[in-house]
Amino acid sequence: MPREVFRLRGRRLALVGVGQIGARLAARALAVGFEVVGYDPYLADWPAGVERAGTLEGALAEADAISLHAPLTEENRGLVGERLLGTLRRRPILVNTARGGLVDLDAVTAALDDGRLAAVALDVVDPEPLPADHPLRDHPRAIITPHMAFYSVEAEQELQRRAAEEVARALRGEPAQVPVNLEAIAARA
Ligand SMILES: NC(=O)c1ccc[n+]([C@@H]2O[C@H](COP(=O)([O-])OP(=O)(O)OC[C@H]3O[C@@H](n4cnc5c(N)ncnc54)[C@H](O)[C@@H]3O)[C@@H](O)[C@H]2O)c1
Repeated sequence: MPREVFRLRGRRLALVGVGQIGARLAARALAVGFEVVGYDPYLADWPAGVERAGTLEGALAEADAISLHAPLTEENRGLVGERLLGTLRRRPILVNTARGGLVDLDAVTAALDDGRLAAVALDVVDPEPLPADHPLRDHPRAIITPHMAFYSVEAEQELQRRAAEEVARALRGEPAQVPVNLEAIAARA
C-alpha cells in the first residue's frame, strides 16, 4: 500500500449509488471532513451535505477516493472499465463493496500498474472467488476480502432470522417483505 498517509479533511470522496449504504457512508465521511460527491440517477431524496453530480464522469473526475454502492444491472456491468478509468485526474483509491460485476478487473489491474489508481480495496469481484493466479491477489496496492463487508455477529444473526421469517410469511400465504420477482407476483394478482 502507499506509504504516504494523507489528512482526510478536504479529500474528495465520490459515491456511485447513494441508497441505504451510500448515504450512511456519506454521513460518516462528512463527519471526518471529506467533501462528498454522489452520482445516483434514480434517487429522489438526496442526503444533506452531499454534492449531486449530473454525470458519473463528473462525480469521479476530481475524486481522491471512489466507493461503489449501486446494484449490478445490465446497464452498469463493467462500469469501472478502461474508458472510465481514463477520465480520472487525481489517482484515486477505488473501493468496491457492492457487486463484483461493476468492475472490470483487467482494466483495474492495468490502471494500478500505470498509476491511474493509487490502490484498490475489493470485497466483491467477478468471478468470485478471485482465481488463485490472478495478479491482484498479491498486488502490493490491492486489498481483496472474501465478500464479507456485511459481516458482524449481529448482522449474521439478523440475516438468518429475516430469511426464516420471509419463508414463514410465504408458507402462511402472506406477501413477502422483500420480493425479488415483483413482475411474477403482479402477473398472478
Ligand atoms: N459486500 C457485501 O457484503 C454487501 C452487503 C450489503 C450490500 N451489498 C451491496 O451493496 C450495494 C448497495 O446496497 P444498498 O443496500 O445501499 O442498496 P440500495 O438499493 O439502498 O441503494 C442502491 C442505490 O444505487 C442506485 N443506482 C442504481 N443504479 C445505479 C447506477 N447505474 N449508477 C449509480 N447509482 C445507481 C439506486 O438508485 C439506489 O439509490 C448493493 O449492490 C448490494 O448488493 C454488499
